[in-house]
Amino acid sequence: DKGNFDYYMLKEIYEEPTIIEKTICNFTKNHFDLTRYNHVDIVACGSSYHVGLLVKYWIEQLLNISTNVEIASEYRYKKLIVQDNSLTIIISQSGETADSLAAIKIAKILKIPTLAIVNVIDSSIAREADNIIYTKAGKEVSVATTKAYIAQLLSMALLIENNKALFEGLPKELSHIIDNKMEDITQFAYQLYQSEHIYFLGRGVDYAIAMEGALKIKEISYIHCEAYAAGEIKHGTIALIEKNTPVIAIVTDNNIREKTISNMKEVSSRGANVLAITNEDILDFNNKIIVNKLPMIIQPFNIILILQLLAFQIAKLKGCSIDKPKNLAKSVTVE
Ligand code: M6R
Repeated sequence: DKGNFDYYMLKEIYEEPTIIEKTICNFTKNHFDLTRYNHVDIVACGSSYHVGLLVKYWIEQLLNISTNVEIASEYRYKKLIVQDNSLTIIISQSGETADSLAAIKIAKILKIPTLAIVNVIDSSIAREADNIIYTKAGKEVSVATTKAYIAQLLSMALLIENNKALFEGLPKELSHIIDNKMEDITQFAYQLYQSEHIYFLGRGVDYAIAMEGALKIKEISYIHCEAYAAGEIKHGTIALIEKNTPVIAIVTDNNIREKTISNMKEVSSRGANVLAITNEDILDFNNKIIVNKLPMIIQPFNIILILQLLAFQIAKLKGCSIDKPKNLAKSVTVE
């Protein structure tokens, strides 16, 4: 039931603050001890894979554990070099994705301990896993995942930080975006919805977030949209920049902020229309959405919410079938 909403996707985005509350409440200390391992492999598909890409930065930075992230359809067919004392984490909303299910079976054959982060209770991946953490997103109907992505990210963040208190302000933070940033987001959507191509730039965690933002726009708006590590553009992609090419830059990481800003200037001087999403004002750029500055492990949540809402608004302006995009299924149970 969509309740008062016209689209499941929007309803599910609006549920995010409540899901975050539930996830925090449900988390028990020492749920699962990641620090016992010397190496982590994260295996998943689509948006769940993007969660892995982001979480890799956290595990490496905060726990000092080497982490490798693999697309499940690649992991299952390649030669696996098993690291000493390693863990394989499978992330899946549905728990039924064929490649992710095959990947967990392979990890088990290789006697690697497994942890599944799944949303659907008693799903096939949940049944295979040695350890399970259930995300508390509830049923997700929209093909484009939003609330389940947030629940996966938060479950991993809690596991890494092992400190609920750090996350207590997060539901309010997301409600604040929903209540106050819709106008800015709609203004961005108007600039973007008629584009043929949109590029994202970011570094580090911002790059991982950008990849999810690009997938969201692609799958529901049918606009070609790609994310690039900002430092890579000089190595080829900058050749695509023309007058008015839209480039969305995500800038939240203080350590590499100036580097990304210099890439934004490079594309801007070649005519790009740069739209910045940032947690600190960037004086040289006028076209921007500024969000609150938050601790490192919390910051991605308000950025991704903006990108989900932006994808939604673009698809709405284009008149696309938002909840059921063409050619896509909610759960990919065949290869
Ligand atoms: O159920 P899963 O998390 O295993 O699904 C993985 C992907 O199929 C899924 O995230 C897909 O990319 C979504 N449509 C993205 O919105």
